[in-house]
Amino acid sequence: MRIIQISDTHLSPGKAHFADNWAPLARWIAEQCPALVIHTGDVTVDGAGVEEDMRYSAELMRGLGVRFCAVPGNHDVGDAGHNHQRVSDERLQRWRTHFGPDRWIEDVEDYRLIGFDAMLLGSGEPEEALQADWLDAVMKDANGRRTAWFLHRPLFLDGPDEGDTGYWSVKPEPRSRLLDLVKRRSVALVASGHLHKAHDFRHDGTRYIWAPSSAFLVGPAMKAPPMPGEDRLGAVVYDLEAGTIKAKIIQVPGLSLHWLDDVAEEVYPRDPDKRAVASLGLRNR
Ligand SMILES: [Fe+2]
Ligand SMILES: [Fe+2]
Repeated sequence: MRIIQISDTHLSPGKAHFADNWAPLARWIAEQCPALVIHTGDVTVDGAGVEEDMRYSAELMRGLGVRFCAVPGNHDVGDAGHNHQRVSDERLQRWRTHFGPDRWIEDVEDYRLIGFDAMLLGSGEPEEALQADWLDAVMKDANGRRTAWFLHRPLFLDGPDEGDTGYWSVKPEPRSRLLDLVKRRSVALVASGHLHKAHDFRHDGTRYIWAPSSAFLVGPAMKAPPMPGEDRLGAVVYDLEAGTIKAKIIQVPGLSLHWLDDVAEEVYPRDPDKRAVASLGLRNR
C-alpha cells in the first residue's frame, strides 16, 4: 500500500506566492496512485487568521481525488503561547470544519498510523490533556500493530536532550513525555514537517523523517538555529508491505524553488496593521 506525505504547502487564494507548486505536486501524486495522502500541516498561508485560506486549501486537497488525512500546523490553527495567534477552540473548530479531526488513526497493513496536533503541545488548552489521554489509549490498543506518528513539528532538531529551541521543535517538557511513549511502545516512525527541510535518520530504533515543504525553503533571514537536514523541496513516499515500511524522500518534478526570505514581509508581515489588512473582510466569508 502506497502512502504519500506532503507538508507545508502554504496555500492561499490571497497570497499566491507559492501557488505554482500545487499543480506539479498534484500531478505527481496522481501518478503515484497512493491509497492515502497525509498532510503534515501548514496547509495554508494563514488559516489561523483567514478562513478563506482554509476553505480554498481544503478544496484543493479534495481535488486530488485521493483520500487524505491532515494534521494542523502553526499557520493553520495558531500555536501554543503565540503572541497574536494562539491555538484556541475556535481555531481548532475551524480546522475541523474544513479538514476533519486534528487527531486520527488509520489502521493499514500491519501498521497503525497516528496523526496528532503538535500545536496543542505545551498550550495548557483542555484539548491538550484530552489528546494526551487519547494518544495513550490508541497506542495501548494498537493490537500488536506497529505504530507510526505524523505531526507538524519535529520532536527535536539535533537530539532528544536539547533545550528549548523556541519555534522550531516541541518544547522539552511535552517532548520528554512523547519520547517516553516512543520508547515504551517502540514507535517505528515519527514523521513531521514544519522545518522545510528534508531529513531521514534513526534514533534509538525509531526512524525520523522530516518531510520537505513543497512550497518554499527557509534561508538565513529567518534566523533558524543550526540544524541538520537538506534544503530541498519535495514529498515522501511510503510503501507498506509485509510488516515493513519503506520510506523515501522524493524530489517532485516541476517544483519551482522559492525562498521565504525573499517575500517574508508580504506573506507574513510583522507589522500588526498589515496583518489586519490581510484578514479584513475574509474572516467570515
Ligand atoms: Fe511551514
Ligand atoms: Fe510550521
